[in-house]
Amino acid sequence: MTHARLLHATTPASASRVTAAFEDAFGGRPEGVWAAPGRVNVIGEHTDYNDGFVLPMALPHGVRAAVARTSADHVRVVSLQAPDEPVTFPVDVRPGDVTGWAAYVAGVVWSVRDAGHELGGLDVVVDGDVPAGAGLSSSAALECSVACAIDELFGLGIDRADLARLAQRAENDFVGMPCGVMDQMASVRCEEGRLLFLDTRSSEVDQVPFDPASHGRTLLVVDTHAPHRLVDGEYARRRAACEEAARTLGVAALRDLTVDDLPTVSPRLSDEHRRRVRHVVTENDRVRETVRTLRRGDLDGIGPLLTASHASLRDDYEVTVGELDTAVEAALAAGALGARMTGGGFGGCVIALVATERAEAVFDEVRSAFATAGYPEPTAFTAVPAAGARRVQ
Ligand code: GLA
Repeated sequence: MTHARLLHATTPASASRVTAAFEDAFGGRPEGVWAAPGRVNVIGEHTDYNDGFVLPMALPHGVRAAVARTSADHVRVVSLQAPDEPVTFPVDVRPGDVTGWAAYVAGVVWSVRDAGHELGGLDVVVDGDVPAGAGLSSSAALECSVACAIDELFGLGIDRADLARLAQRAENDFVGMPCGVMDQMASVRCEEGRLLFLDTRSSEVDQVPFDPASHGRTLLVVDTHAPHRLVDGEYARRRAACEEAARTLGVAALRDLTVDDLPTVSPRLSDEHRRRVRHVVTENDRVRETVRTLRRGDLDGIGPLLTASHASLRDDYEVTVGELDTAVEAALAAGALGARMTGGGFGGCVIALVATERAEAVFDEVRSAFATAGYPEPTAFTAVPAAGARRVQ
């Protein structure tokens, strides 16, 4: 059998390309170029809006933003992924004024101003290479590249955690997606070669070294290309169910419950809420166990935790779809040490921890399972932890 070629994570769109595009669009040079990455989450899914724990890593894919201040009272934005749709909005933009891709940029301008910072006019060109619709946080990368540029150009001195929360606010209250803070924190705070162990309640982080290659292992990311079905409505419903369950149980957030509490609290919940709570509580436990296991140097030991996370997301949280389950099952059948969906679910990507020499064979098994099931052809790449948001020019 010939093996499908795995795509290796590419170098993101170059700073010179976005600079050249800026000169074309606006006729001058940008004051700088800022890069912010997308992410994969290794474990800790649907825990962030429950004040819980997450363990993402940055991808080499991301967004580059070439930005200059202007004396105008508006912001002009061009995306190289939508070059025919330049967008202009006033600096004092309000939620509802801008929709589509530019809402992520306008939302950041709005949230930074709403936090009390003075901003002037801007010209912005963005260029991204996070696979679209794959659940790898292209929106957080866009928000965070622009947020970092604004922070630096206007000398705001906002700390990284606060900047991530302003980007999240843009998405929650301007775009209208009630996401947690994981993706934005990952984009601004991840470090090369490390996983970001984040306590989303305190914003405290612990950088956990992660180098599968030194163990002869590879983290494979399989993009199922499954269309995101009902994603926003279902996501919001999960979040609302968690908040309702926390209220019923008299805790500030589900983070405040432990696995030992489950037998006592379960009888007070509906069947649906009981399963949602069980996922969140056990997932927080798995994140901490994953970090302890990695700290012991036992990379393979995280495999069963990844697989258990998937089962919990499938059975208790009900955010998987056929493509995600098929990819996980096929990867495990082909010898993956662990596999799970990553991101919000309802489509998107699966990660699998595999012996490096088995990576192609595992992906082949997934492809053939997809062919048998009549799903569109998946793609895959191998991921190593890349750097968080930074100025690149
Ligand atoms: C999406 C959201 C995140 C997080 C994940 C699920 O990626 O943007 O905040 O809730 O889903 O873990």
